[in-house]
Amino acid sequence: MTRRYEGKVAFITGAARGQGRAEAVRFAQEGANIIAIDACAEFASTAYAGATEADLAETVRLVEETGAKIAASKVDVRDFDALSAALAAGIEQFGRLDVVVANAGICSAALSWEITAEQWQETVDVNLTGVFHTAKAAVPHLIAQGEGGAMVFTSSVGGLKGIPFTGHYVATKHAITGLAKTMANELGAHRIRVNTVHPAGVASGMQPNDIGPLLEEYASTLAPIFMNSLPDYIIEPEEIAATVAWLCSDDAAKVTGAQIPIDMGNLNR
Ligand SMILES: NC(=O)c1ccc[n+]([C@@H]2O[C@H](COP(=O)([O-])OP(=O)(O)OC[C@H]3O[C@@H](n4cnc5c(N)ncnc54)[C@H](O)[C@@H]3O)[C@@H](O)[C@H]2O)c1
Repeated sequence: MTRRYEGKVAFITGAARGQGRAEAVRFAQEGANIIAIDACAEFASTAYAGATEADLAETVRLVEETGAKIAASKVDVRDFDALSAALAAGIEQFGRLDVVVANAGICSAALSWEITAEQWQETVDVNLTGVFHTAKAAVPHLIAQGEGGAMVFTSSVGGLKGIPFTGHYVATKHAITGLAKTMANELGAHRIRVNTVHPAGVASGMQPNDIGPLLEEYASTLAPIFMNSLPDYIIEPEEIAATVAWLCSDDAAKVTGAQIPIDMGNLNR
């Protein structure tokens, strides 16, 4: 494997499992030291189990196995002060910051007009405000360092089209796409690139089981929205990580403000 991140440092949110873990391991394999946070918590609105401290410890083990170093802590992206402190401590430990992956997110399902106030608020707080917090904490460090940098926000195919039964989720994923495009404009002069990735179904802990009955009920009209061009229905987290590692590297030095689908062709339908 090429080592495009030798001597560099990557900050990844939601790194206890799934895509965040795969990204931590991938950047580490390519030479980076890792600053990782995860809430390691259950969420009131989700119908799947939350990540645990044991999951985050496993990420630490996997990163260290590559020979890289990792500063991992149990921090919720909704807590700006704790996130900022964890990031600052990691930068203090490793000496710099090059890459930011705002990956932490949650998902639940309901018809848009039946989403509860609590479900709406939790999703917005984690998926939108959490990404804003991540960028707000990281950007001053990147600007002060004066060597550019790369930020990726993990959106979704639902950041570019209307995925039924996830209106609150889709609203946040569109919102962070707009935030990334705006920040790409503002930060271009500093050679800080900001892009979004748009995965379709990923084999991770995020299994919104509450969507099943709705899918069955509306299958005759809405099933094509979930179909892909490729004869695949699921993406491995490592495949997402490979694209994110490309997007943050000098191989993508002229890519900013872009929306990169990793979706088996779902957005092509
Ligand atoms: N799984 C999919 O099919 C899919 C598709 C498109 C986009 N996404 C997006 O990809 C990202 C990663 O999800 P995943 O598929 O790896 O799911 P996952 O549930 O396995 O991992 C998400 C991680 O984020 C953490 N997290 C959640 N809320 C947090 C918070 N408030 N503070 C800190 N950490 C928090 C979780 O604890 C978990 O470890 C999410 O933003 C998700 O919306 C997922």
